[in-house]
Amino acid sequence: MQEILETAKIEDVVQEFVNLRRRGVNMIGVCPFHNEKTPSFTVSPAKNIFKCFGCGKAGDSAKFIMEHEHLSYPDALRYLARKYRIEIEEVKLTPEAVAQQQAEESLYIINDYARQFYQDQLFDTDMGKSVGLSYFKGRGFREETIRKFGLGYAPNEYEAFVKKATQAGYKLDFLKKLGLASQYDKDFFRNRVMFTIHNLSGKPIAFAGRIMEKDAKAPKYINSPETEIYVKNKNLYGIFHAKTAIRKVDECILVEGYTDVISLHQAGIENVVASSGTSLTEGQIALIKRFTPNIKILYDGDAAGVKAALRGLDMVLEQDMNVRVVLLPDGDDPDSYLQKVGATAFQEFIEQQAKDFILFKTNLLLAETKGDPVKKAGLVRDIVESVAKVPDPFKRSFYVKECARVMELEEQVLVTETNKAVQQILVKRDADRRKKPEVKVNIVPEDDGGFPSEAPPETDYVPVAPAPQRRATGHEFQERDIVRILVEAGGKVYDEKENMTVAEFVLGNIEDVLDDFDNPAYLRIAKEALQLVLDKQPITTQYFIGHNDQAISELAVDLLHSPWEYSPGWAERELYLSSQKMPEENFNKDSLSALLQFKLRKVIRLGEKNQLQMKQVPPDDAAQLMRLMKVQMKLMEMRNELMKQVGMVVLK
Ligand code: UTP
Ligand code: MN
Repeated sequence: MQEILETAKIEDVVQEFVNLRRRGVNMIGVCPFHNEKTPSFTVSPAKNIFKCFGCGKAGDSAKFIMEHEHLSYPDALRYLARKYRIEIEEVKLTPEAVAQQQAEESLYIINDYARQFYQDQLFDTDMGKSVGLSYFKGRGFREETIRKFGLGYAPNEYEAFVKKATQAGYKLDFLKKLGLASQYDKDFFRNRVMFTIHNLSGKPIAFAGRIMEKDAKAPKYINSPETEIYVKNKNLYGIFHAKTAIRKVDECILVEGYTDVISLHQAGIENVVASSGTSLTEGQIALIKRFTPNIKILYDGDAAGVKAALRGLDMVLEQDMNVRVVLLPDGDDPDSYLQKVGATAFQEFIEQQAKDFILFKTNLLLAETKGDPVKKAGLVRDIVESVAKVPDPFKRSFYVKECARVMELEEQVLVTETNKAVQQILVKRDADRRKKPEVKVNIVPEDDGGFPSEAPPETDYVPVAPAPQRRATGHEFQERDIVRILVEAGGKVYDEKENMTVAEFVLGNIEDVLDDFDNPAYLRIAKEALQLVLDKQPITTQYFIGHNDQAISELAVDLLHSPWEYSPGWAERELYLSSQKMPEENFNKDSLSALLQFKLRKVIRLGEKNQLQMKQVPPDDAAQLMRLMKVQMKLMEMRNELMKQVGMVVLK
């Protein structure tokens, strides 16, 4: 494993997907993970890691492949191993994990068997051909499309599938679990044309069967139940076949039906997925968001539920997606309209008709108020709620303007209302955050007035739920330095004579003040490092980068990049950081200086606390005051001594 990660040169791995240019010791390119015009995706060959300063994605080669190819960690390692032709021992798993993986694997295998069965029925049996295949052909599906999407036919028999599958050795329990067999051990899908539902990597996770009888009382579509491998609200029909196009076109078209997806795909509009008739869930949005922030939703013109659907859509705004909606002509769904007008006209239509979601909603609801002032007030509240959920303040102010215009309102009224709603959201978010402490911490400089949780304005990308930010105490800069040294050079030799590593030196000096760390994330890394020292285990950069705990591994990568990303107020702190231009080369000096800075901060803070205590001593308690003064003098001495060592001028 180690071998793979060392062999895998990050620039080679990335260059297969991203054009990189040299810039100094690093390489830079356009980020493949978010939409940007100016490149902010940086690769550091020396450190063998990447980081995007736009969207924040960062990590080593394995992480890049995981994100880019949507693979699991073991699969990403296998990918890299193949690339470099290294034999790998399979990562050792616990027996439970192995059992779990095998159970899941067998579900895929059975589903694949079923897919093949339904497909054979469709192409190779008389009933399949006359009922199923002719139905699909009648809908204009070509054979390659039928195969590509795993379409099939479930015969009109009670146990055709169950019998065959059990004879082939598949356990009835599993067939039931997957919904392929009914609870009475019969075939669940009968006389239906079948749609295979694939996951992101193209494995069959479920089925939908469309009824063939006309005017039957049974539902038009029946679906597999949820299983470990089929979590409905996290999957989108067609995502496997659409993902490449979604990324390329940088937009995802969302439709309702299975047949809409297939039809559009066949016509060359491949960036399309279906929510399968239900309203969009957060998990589904997150899935789309991995490929693009732009989404175009096509609604059937006659859908009575359009308005209801719109209400549920606010959550898409919260995720900072750009949503446009298209209303299809009355009576048509995407499939039928496409068949009617052809691909080119269809494309033109949806592009022309696409309306910004908030403005569309405003117009639609406004038409309903018919000038009734009470209804209009309700509408204002409704729209304000939506607008407030847009995380980007610039977009928000655009909406305020536009909505005011459409509703013929004073802009100021909407501004005030929206600001109120935004405040409420921020207060709520803050309360939520307090409930569950976040490990990942963004440094906000001490002196920026405690700017609330808006995303940093200098990027063209604003994260979904803005990353949790805390006000840095100032100590965090020093803590960060210390931890960075541990991650970057912890295992290096600090003192040859003493046979001491940098980590031993640093930790030996700060062990007593570890609990005084202000930043819980840094503390965790420091404690991990301490444990390694105590266990006499080697401390390597890779240990932290490849850490199982995502938070630690991300932070480690972040720390390695720290020389480039000091927070806005960093210039004043240049003094502290000037010794760290080339940390690889002077980690000794570095660790000493970081250590001194760290201790200095702590001493200064102790002094401040002590002074406060002195102020509170009652005037007649001379003994207490005396004691505190002694402490204060001692602390001042320490402060001055430390400052001298750091090379700072003692000002007072
Ligand atoms: P539609 O009724 O619009 O069907 O349902 P459709 O997709 O256009 O199918 P055709 O063209 O009549 O063959 C839209 C989607 O809602 C879900 C399915 O995912 C369907 O594709 N649905 C609908 C069900 O799950 N069950 C149903 O009974 C009906
Ligand atoms: Mn249809």
